[in-house]
Amino acid sequence: MHSTVCNVGAFVLSVMLLQVSSLETVTGIYGETIEVPCNRGAPTPANLFIKWKYDKDDGSSGDLLIKKKDVASVLATDGYKDRVNITSNSSLLIARATLMDQKTFTCMVVTESDVLTYPVSVLVYKKPLPPTITDKAEDLEKGKLTTLGKCIARLAHPAANISWFKNGKPLASDEKTILITSTVDVDKLSGLATTTSELRYTASRADMAAKFSCSAQHSLGPDQDSAPVTFSIHYPTEKVSLQVSPDGALKEGDNVTLKCKGDGNPPPASYNFFIKGQKVTMNSDSHTLVGVTRENTGEYKCSPVGSDTVVASKNLSINFMDVSLSLSGTVVRKVGENVALTVHKNASREVKVTWTKDNDKLDKQPRFDKLKYADTGNYVCEFSMDGLTQRRSFRLVVEGVPVIKRLDKKKGEDGKYKVLICEAEGSPKPSILWNINGTSEESPYINGKITNTIIMVPTENLTVTCTVSNDLGQDVKFINVSSLFKEDKKMMERQDQTDDASDQAKLIVGIVVGLLLAAAVVGLVYWIYMKKSKQGSWKTGEKEAGTSEESKKDEEGKKQ
Ligand SMILES: *[C@@H]1O[C@H](CO)[C@@H](O)[C@H](O)[C@H]1NC(C)=O
Ligand SMILES: *[C@@H]1O[C@H](CO)[C@@H](O)[C@H](O)[C@H]1NC(C)=O
Ligand SMILES: *[C@@H]1O[C@H](CO)[C@@H](O)[C@H](O)[C@H]1NC(C)=O
Ligand SMILES: *[C@@H]1O[C@H](CO)[C@@H](O)[C@H](O)[C@H]1NC(C)=O
Ligand SMILES: *[C@@H]1O[C@H](CO)[C@@H](O)[C@H](O)[C@H]1NC(C)=O
Ligand SMILES: *[C@@H]1O[C@H](CO)[C@@H](O)[C@H](O)[C@H]1NC(C)=O
Ligand SMILES: *[C@@H]1O[C@H](CO)[C@@H](O)[C@H](O)[C@H]1NC(C)=O
Ligand SMILES: *[C@@H]1O[C@H](CO)[C@@H](O)[C@H](O)[C@H]1NC(C)=O
Ligand SMILES: *[C@@H]1O[C@H](CO)[C@@H](O)[C@H](O)[C@H]1NC(C)=O
Repeated sequence: MHSTVCNVGAFVLSVMLLQVSSLETVTGIYGETIEVPCNRGAPTPANLFIKWKYDKDDGSSGDLLIKKKDVASVLATDGYKDRVNITSNSSLLIARATLMDQKTFTCMVVTESDVLTYPVSVLVYKKPLPPTITDKAEDLEKGKLTTLGKCIARLAHPAANISWFKNGKPLASDEKTILITSTVDVDKLSGLATTTSELRYTASRADMAAKFSCSAQHSLGPDQDSAPVTFSIHYPTEKVSLQVSPDGALKEGDNVTLKCKGDGNPPPASYNFFIKGQKVTMNSDSHTLVGVTRENTGEYKCSPVGSDTVVASKNLSINFMDVSLSLSGTVVRKVGENVALTVHKNASREVKVTWTKDNDKLDKQPRFDKLKYADTGNYVCEFSMDGLTQRRSFRLVVEGVPVIKRLDKKKGEDGKYKVLICEAEGSPKPSILWNINGTSEESPYINGKITNTIIMVPTENLTVTCTVSNDLGQDVKFINVSSLFKEDKKMMERQDQTDDASDQAKLIVGIVVGLLLAAAVVGLVYWIYMKKSKQGSWKTGEKEAGTSEESKKDEEGKKQ
């Protein structure tokens, strides 16, 4: 029982709902053709004719058209005359819709026995034009509520809603720092609504590059966004920073630029620089110190002109390097002397020292305890510290009276000539003189040493002199050289004799020899007799010295 009552109640409710929703609503788009269906597009029963009419503002009804046996005829004589038509499924077509078409249209189906009516309520909607931002503020003052701009969405039906965004995030009115006011204007002629939304906003420093935009929402279709706008935010300088270039270690000779930067917008146009307590006002944000020295080490400050309490400071330290050597220019010293070389350096940091001699790198600082000729050269000392480089150099010249280190002789090939060698040491370059003629040759002069060789053919026993000299003095040495020429001559004579003897043995034969011999013997005996009676003795000639014997003695001959 109980359930039956409930069922009945539900039925009644559903019937009521049906009746309420039975007035069908069709939404058309402004300016386009609206299709108003008859009985929701359901097939119409067999009929005599179908007629479309509408409710006029004064409550009466106006006829639009009639369709009889698929032939339609327009009945309207007013504004609908040229705008209405009917489709094959009996829908009413209304072209070029305006808000005036928001009425109730009724489809009447007249059958043999009945008249069926299907009223339809027509709504006409229009999307707004894309929203635009107008009356944009020039720039914003930090912390001050300012009208940022107006967003306008024109000619919509129903009126569009407008929302504001900052960097894509919606802005909500908080009645304090953000105020949004919307107004809607309806055009009297067309009935279309223009929504205007004004945003009043309190900017902060962070809004400098923020993108503000607005968006129009409408029931027809997606939201439309305006082009974004940005603002320049004005705010005073609260902090300054002092930048120093070059950054990193500063050294004497650098051009140091101090740059002061305020965080205000616009930034300060002029700054005061306090350079070790002294005030310098610049109509720009930077100040350059040309060629700084260690004296420039100290505390530097800057602040915008007019706000001395906003200060930045930095302590600058200028690195320096003082270097010197105990030797400079050209230093001339005697061989064997002791020369002190000291390096003086006073710098703000550790200094790296490298030495070169005649462009060759040295392992360490040279020492000149006992000067050698080889010590002569150009010495360069390079000091470096953090990009600061200095060079000091000197030329050392080691001088000395020339000394003959060696005077020697050698036999040339075949023993046909002799080679004499005179080796000397001294500086400036000694000249070497021989007291004999010959082909001489001189070695290059290196590290104070020079060697002269002379090729000669001694015709007699000689004492050869080698004289070496320079501006400072000279040295002389002797060497005994025995004759080569004589030995050669004797050897040749001996050779001739043996050759003659062999020729005689070969050529003079038998009888001729015998005859001649006999005649010679007679003559000889007579000649000997005569000679003996004159001189009384007969010498066969001196004994000849062997070549090897002499040369041995020559080699033994030493410089005196
Ligand atoms: C009427 O018929 C047309 C095709 O002739 C169709 O496009 C339209 O949707 C139909 N209308 C209804 C309400 O069924
Ligand atoms: C009405 O529509 C029919 C086709 O449905 C067309 O032939 C006729 O020209 C239209 N009439 C007007 C006045 O637009
Ligand atoms: C416009 O705003 C009103 C009030 O907040 C709201 O009821 C309506 O749905 C909004 N319309 C659209 C299209 O968002
Ligand atoms: C410093 O500036 C002067 C001129 O202003 C210039 O002649 C000099 O070369 C600069 N020195 C350095 C190390 O840049
Ligand atoms: C610079 O040095 C002074 C004194 O030595 C010191 O009082 C000051 O705090 C230093 N300033 C900076 C920025 O380091
Ligand atoms: C090094 O140089 C500084 C600055 O010129 C000076 O004050 C100091 O006396 C020097 N020291 C020596 C050992 O020369
Ligand atoms: C070397 O030769 C020159 C002529 O060429 C001569 O006058 C001189 O006496 C010669 N000296 C010696 C040492 O033989
Ligand atoms: C040359 O010296 C050698 C010994 O060195 C000697 O035997 C010879 O007699 C000398 N000759 C002359 C011409 O003086
Ligand atoms: C060279 O010969 C001379 C004599 O002719 C002699 O007095 C001298 O000692 C000799 N010198 C050497 C080094 O043999």
